[in-house]
Amino acid sequence: MWDYTDKVKEAFLRPKNVGEIKNADAIGEVGSIVCGDALKLYLRIDRETETILDARFQTFGCASAIASSSALTELIKGKTLDEALSVTNQDIADFLGGLPAQKMHCSVMGREALEAAIANYRGAPLLKTGTERVVCKCFDVTEDKIRRVAMENHLKTVDEITNFTKAGGGCGECKSEIEKILLSIVIQESR
Ligand code: FES
Repeated sequence: MWDYTDKVKEAFLRPKNVGEIKNADAIGEVGSIVCGDALKLYLRIDRETETILDARFQTFGCASAIASSSALTELIKGKTLDEALSVTNQDIADFLGGLPAQKMHCSVMGREALEAAIANYRGAPLLKTGTERVVCKCFDVTEDKIRRVAMENHLKTVDEITNFTKAGGGCGECKSEIEKILLSIVIQESR
């Protein structure tokens, strides 16, 4: 049994902003049911001020995935798109009074859905850096995602990467590759 905070339990049992927005101005869809978690985020946006008027979600996943989605919508409603983009996965976890370490990937999924929705609204694909190499085939996690999540959250170990992205949490074949990526980040940051 996971050690969930009261806020996580509350957001799971009585999530805010569940459902769809008909003719939404933006939709962000991340994860996959095959991999265990999926989140579809809908935004209603005031085009003049770029303010998020409404945010709703449909999530397939565990209690922390649903709680993280609910927290995300509460955090971004009323914000401009640029303000919303400054919401981090740690902000989502903090809003819930914390998440079990092994469930931090749920907060990352929320942050990714937000980015995907805003990119969808702006008509631009998410920034590609040319390294969209899939490192973890079990969970379809790219090198870009591992690098970004590691740097944003100051992650140092493969277990931490697994907690935040799920990469490495299946067959384990990608673990040595994840170690190499972590090492290259350390080298990069020490320059
Ligand atoms: S390839 Fe990453 S856990 Fe299987």
